[in-house]
Amino acid sequence: MKALEGVRILDFTHVQSGPTCTQLLAWLGADVIKVERPGIGDITRGQLRDVPDADSLYFTMLNHNKRSITIDGKNPKGKEILEGLVKACDVMVENFAPGALDRMGFTWEHIQALNPKIILASIKGFGPGPYEDCKVYENVAQCTGGSASTTGFRDGPPLVTGAQIGDSGTGLHLALGIVAALYQRTKSGRGQRVTAAMQDGVLNLCRVKMRDQQRLTRGPLAEYSQHGEGIPFGSAVPRSGNDSGGGQPGWILKCKGWETDPNAYIYFITQAPVWKAICDMIGKPEWKTDPDFATPNARLPRLRLIFDTIEEWTMTKTKFEVMDLCNQADIPCGPILSMEELAEEPSLRETGTIVEVDHPTRGPYLSVGNPIKLSDSPSEVWRSPLLGEHTEEILRDVLNLDDEGVAEARESGAIGEPSREAAE
Ligand code: COA
Repeated sequence: MKALEGVRILDFTHVQSGPTCTQLLAWLGADVIKVERPGIGDITRGQLRDVPDADSLYFTMLNHNKRSITIDGKNPKGKEILEGLVKACDVMVENFAPGALDRMGFTWEHIQALNPKIILASIKGFGPGPYEDCKVYENVAQCTGGSASTTGFRDGPPLVTGAQIGDSGTGLHLALGIVAALYQRTKSGRGQRVTAAMQDGVLNLCRVKMRDQQRLTRGPLAEYSQHGEGIPFGSAVPRSGNDSGGGQPGWILKCKGWETDPNAYIYFITQAPVWKAICDMIGKPEWKTDPDFATPNARLPRLRLIFDTIEEWTMTKTKFEVMDLCNQADIPCGPILSMEELAEEPSLRETGTIVEVDHPTRGPYLSVGNPIKLSDSPSEVWRSPLLGEHTEEILRDVLNLDDEGVAEARESGAIGEPSREAAE
């Protein structure tokens, strides 16, 4: 038995944000029915293709454990089929551009009238306000949610990050909203709307910077290295390079081989409780008692000198040697691991965080598995569906259509033809 077994989800999502959410719910055991446009499907099936004619990794890595049905939501018969699915599902999830679902005829009022217990979960770029009608992609959310203005180096332009905090981050927020609404429904008997705006999701993940914005009104941010460098602060939280976002100063330091290996670096944290161990480790035992270095406050204006000195030591060792030595002394640090190293890391394979999946048209590929581990509901990762692979199966199982009903749906153009691969 899986945690969400028995929960049926009408998955009207596309691209990354919505599919992240429904993939998580599928991994937790929900029956996720992905609705796609006949003949076209989720646009990501064909984006960034690495194998000709096969679904892209973009698509396959976001749509595991789902079933695919193709329905033209603008065809009258297609609409009727969708209405049947709304009645049969517990949750409907969508991340269309603002207004698209309404234009298809599926307003919240109509959805509720069809199924008062349904939970309608939506991702939009922005919440109510001046930008509510805008289409939004990942980097737009990173820029409007506070991440870009606080990422990068002080003397460079704003930067977006590789972590998809706008798309996948908001999908994760939405999934939490959905399970909370499912829980509330067990008591209220009613469905409800769940919405997550990408700007809000990014801002939630950047809350430490909003904290610092307020601290800045009371004085300089002493743990930002620019403070120690004597550079005055402006009125907004600056980009702080690799400064730690918390109370324990940190920085990324070169390790042996950095001249040729772009990832021969380590994040090193000068955590106060282990300061003495750090001094011994780097050959600076005198710093343990020197009043300029002995206390966290004394160290704050000298962070640049401290990290330069630690780096002289880390550059004599590989990042893994530094990691081993530091951990023996309880000093927190993190080697910069490349995607190549992560893909090959055996412990991540063992925990199912990285999985190898087979696919009929592209062959085996690596994917990130479920990062959330439940002891009573372990996740198995199944390949993503081919376009329309389960159309007939869903019409029969969920809507109880017979041969005649399926033929009628097909003839009306409501469900389209399954993809060649799915048909085979
Ligand atoms: N049957 C019939 N029509 C369908 C359909 C189906 N099964 N599935 C989608 N469509 C239609 C929609 O109804 C819409 O038609 P309309 O514009 O005539 O109303 C159309 O396809 C396009 O949908 P839209 O969402 O506007 O796609 P887009 O490619 O133009 O925009 C986004 C993509 C991601 C920018 C946009 O969907 C968006 O802003 N989403 C919300 C924020 C978000 O999730 N962004 C991150 C994505 S990773």
